[in-house]
Amino acid sequence: MKEYKISAIKEGTVIDHITPESTFKVIEILSLNKNTEVISVANNLKSSRLGEKGIVKIGSKFLEEEEVNKIALIAPNATLNIIKNYKVIEKIKLRIPEKIEGIVRCFNPNCITNFDKMNTKFNVISNGSIKLVCIYCERSMKKQDITLL
Ligand code: CTP
Ligand code: ZN
Repeated sequence: MKEYKISAIKEGTVIDHITPESTFKVIEILSLNKNTEVISVANNLKSSRLGEKGIVKIGSKFLEEEEVNKIALIAPNATLNIIKNYKVIEKIKLRIPEKIEGIVRCFNPNCITNFDKMNTKFNVISNGSIKLVCIYCERSMKKQDITLL
């Protein structure tokens, strides 16, 4: 039931089922450069699960933990497919993490984490929408307030 055609890749990572408004953010999160082998991006594809979805394929790249954590935050329904020799050898369904360390800046300009060199830490509350609560200043941030570090 594939209505779209983007080349299969031989080796690398396919990030699938991205909510369309996050597809280009996913690309920003990934550390890609001129040596990255293959990149293909499609957005607003029909998907039975999401309505519409984006997909990003990167040849010969396997994601770092920090990249995965960032993607989980902005595209929590995404699936990571690890491809080796044209086969999906691993499929990881991302979940919203319960706690976030580093990754995100605190929205409160007076928060100590914006003055001292220290890791930010948030508890994640998700009931439908995502909220991050800073453990230092207790300020709560909505998804649209999130700035990645
Ligand atoms: N894919 C790819 N290159 C390959 C194998 C798979 O680009 N050599 C892509 C497919 O196009 C698909 C994703 O990786 O977008 C996952 O592949 P697969 O598990 O075969 O597809 P589905 O069963 O549709 O995945 P899901 O159940 O996660 O929707
Ligand atoms: Zn704070």
